[in-house]
Order: sequence, then C-alpha cells, then structure tokens
Amino acid sequence: MSKGVKIAPAEGKLGVLLPGLGAVATTFIAGVEAVRRGYAKPIGSLSQMGHIRLGKRTEGRQPKIKDFVPLASLEQLEFGGWDPIPDDALESARAAGVLEERDLTPIADFLKSIRPMPAVFDKAYVRRLDGTNVKQGRTKRDLGEQLREDIRRFKEEHGCARLVMVWCGSTEVFMKPTEAHASIEAFEQAMERNDPSIAPSMIYAWAALMEGVPYANGAPNLTVDIPALTELARERGVPIAGKDFKTGQTLMKTIIAPGLKARMLGLSGWFSTNILGNRDGAVLDDPDSFKTKEESKLGVLEYILQPDLYPELYGEVYHKVRINYYPPRGDNKEGWDNLDIFGWLGYPMQIKVDFLCRDSILAAPIVLDLALFLDLAHRAGMSGIQEWLSFYFKSPMTAPELYPEHDLFIQHMKLKNTLRYLMGEEQITHLGIEYYE
Ligand SMILES: NC(=O)c1ccc[n+]([C@@H]2O[C@H](COP(=O)([O-])OP(=O)(O)OC[C@H]3O[C@@H](n4cnc5c(N)ncnc54)[C@H](O)[C@@H]3O)[C@@H](O)[C@H]2O)c1
Repeated sequence: MSKGVKIAPAEGKLGVLLPGLGAVATTFIAGVEAVRRGYAKPIGSLSQMGHIRLGKRTEGRQPKIKDFVPLASLEQLEFGGWDPIPDDALESARAAGVLEERDLTPIADFLKSIRPMPAVFDKAYVRRLDGTNVKQGRTKRDLGEQLREDIRRFKEEHGCARLVMVWCGSTEVFMKPTEAHASIEAFEQAMERNDPSIAPSMIYAWAALMEGVPYANGAPNLTVDIPALTELARERGVPIAGKDFKTGQTLMKTIIAPGLKARMLGLSGWFSTNILGNRDGAVLDDPDSFKTKEESKLGVLEYILQPDLYPELYGEVYHKVRINYYPPRGDNKEGWDNLDIFGWLGYPMQIKVDFLCRDSILAAPIVLDLALFLDLAHRAGMSGIQEWLSFYFKSPMTAPELYPEHDLFIQHMKLKNTLRYLMGEEQITHLGIEYYE
C-alpha cells in the first residue's frame, strides 16, 4: 500500500466563484443552502452521497466519500459571481424557472444577498444576450486585472481561506485554437492588443489562475483548453478541468453506448433531438454557439465505440444531434434519441429514449462536486488538467497526446481510484480471483 499524498486540511471558508449567475448557478446555490438548512438532500452529488469501497469485499469498508477524503463541508461554502444581467440570485432563479416558489421562499433572503459583480462580457461572443452590468476597460488585460481585484476583494470580504471558480456562463461562439493561445506570452500579448481570439471566458480563467484559483469550465467553449492556460495552470500549481457539464442526453449516451459495445452489438445510426426553452436554449439558437455545443456532443460516440478497432460494428455510424429552442418548455427539456442497432446475423433493432429531464437539476450537483474536488486537488498539490474529473464533462480535457475517456463507468472508476491513491489505499482492479483460491 502506498502512503498516499500529503493533503492540507480543509480549514476555513471556501469561496465558490461563478462567472454566470443563471439557471445552473442559482439552482446550485439554492440547493446547497436548502441542504444546509435541512430542507433537502444533495441528490445527484457523488461527493455528498457516494460511498467508496476500500480493500477487499470481505472487509466491509465502504465509507462515504466525504468521510474518506478531507473535503470542505457545505457549511464552509461562500458564493459569489459575475453576470452582465444585474439580477440578484433570487431574481435570477425566479427568471430561470427551475425551482418552485415553495423552495425559493424559505431561502429568499439568502439568495437576495448574492448580487453579481459586473461581468467581462462582449456580445460578439454570445450574440443572443444583452447586459448592462458590464466592466469597461481599455484592453482585455485591463479587464483581467479588474477580475483579479474582484477575486481578492471577495476573498477578503468573505473571509475565505481558499477559492475555486466554475464557469456557469453562456456558451460562447465556436473558436479554434490560434497562435495567440500557443503560449503564456502570446496570450498576454494578445490580451494587450485586444485580439479577438481572447474570449471573455478566457479572461476569467487567466485571472483565476493568476490568483492561484482552480478553474472548471462547465460550457463547451475552449477557455482553459489551450496551451497558454494549461501551461499557466502548471506554472502556478493550480488544477483545472473541463469542458461542458455532462448532463441530459449526453449523459444517457455515455451510459448506453458502453453497454452496447460491451455486448458487441452494432450501431448504424444515432439521432438525438431535443426541445428546451431556457436562456441557454436561446443562446444555443445562434448557429455559432450551437456549433460549439455540437462539437462537444458529437465526439462522445466516436471515442466510446472505437470504429477503427471495430469497423464491422461501428464503421458507419450516422450520428446527428439537434437542439431546438422551444420557449414553452423552459428549463424542462425533452430529449428524444433513436438508435438503430444490429445484432446476430445483422438483424436490425431499434431503441427509443424519451428523457423528460431538468437540465439545471442535473447540472447543479456537478458544480458542487467540481468545486469540492478541485479544492481537494489543490490542497493535495495537484496542478494542470485533472483528467480524473472527466466523469463530469462531455468533452474531457486531456494531455495533448491522449484521447479522452468518455465511458461513464471507466470515468467513475478513474475518479474513485484517484481518491484511493490520494489516501494511500489500494487501487481496485475488480479481478477478484483471490476469493476463489
Ligand atoms: N444545464 C445543463 O445541463 C448544462 C449542461 C452542460 C453545459 N451547460 C452550460 O452551462 C452554462 C450555463 O447554463 P445555464 O442553463 O445556467 O444558462 P443561463 O443562460 O441560465 O445562464 C448563463 C448566464 O451566464 C451569463 N453570462 C453570459 N456571458 C457571461 C460573461 N461573459 N460573464 C459572466 N456571465 C455571463 C448570462 O447572462 C446568464 O445569466 C451554459 O454555457 C450551458 O451551455 C449547462
């Protein structure tokens, strides 16, 4: 057994900073407060509800993850955020329409006290939004420095010992990495000359890393997934993770596809379409924002099914993803999947999935887990890309030479084995032959 890793204790308050105080962010904050007051349970959160097996099955050691690794407790969390829309967290939660009044009223004062700081926002990157609560600055570097001041002020005013940042802002338009993203120096020079390849989300990420604050990206934008910022994260000893919270249809995809592959069932087509009517849906109605999302959703099957290894089964999969903005549904998305599969002797079969899901209800516990696990990673001295948090993302970030692991069950095992490793417990291989020897 290894000795594990030295982890600084989770003492003092942990500030959770959220660029984007919309549906996901307010559902997350309201949920944490409801749990703290004993009104609700943290359903969907692995860090709060999950157990982890340690040692042999015969040992009966299955503590809760939060009792096994030294995580910050919910009572230690403080919340802050930025948004171009000036609504406080109560108004924003009401506008999002995710939680009902009976859940908001008892914590209304608390939510009202969380007001967004002026955002670094530029309509060129999120065309369907207008905002008035926006910072002014001569250069993108100036804007980044203003964010750094916000971060320091928040830390002091709220008496936080540590901070983490989770991007819950809108999906920005599709961008490819450019020369400006190639190194820290190129990135900072590009900030100075207001280069268009520096998106607002990148300015937040830069500010966070400069302040030694771990950063997770809940949207599919490039953001920290560029050499300049992964390098900065390593240099500053700060953990990062991304991209795009894995909820809804893609979560289902990464549950079903590994099962089909495990049984060597073929797939000829997978058509996914959905209707949703929240602000995220309105932003994704812009083709350039949708393209960012589409790229993030399409990669999943390719990596799980490995068509190059299994050309007879997955060589010709027709994969289509559609998102339709349909206001009457609000945050309550309905997603339909049609899978054309084939089995023994090539006989065709079909699977239909109709998932009436609630996007922000699925995303909120992911924000919580990412905040707590990134803080843990930071205290354990881990920096750069945290691949063990792939479990939470549609397009997991990896080292450049690696392909991303999308299979939810492998991601789950990787996460738990990382926790065992940190604590000096044996890795679990599921071999189990020793029980029969
Ligand atoms: N809900 C899910 O299941 C889910 C899953 C995966 C990814 N996401 C992503 O998470 C993000 C948040 O989703 P949501 O449903 O809360 O959307 P939302 O539209 O309700 O909230 C996003 C908020 O970000 C703000 N914003 C936009 N640009 C900003 C900037 N530069 N700085 C600060 N704030 C900014 C907007 O004004 C808005 O209030 C979206 O990018 C979405 O694609 C959500």
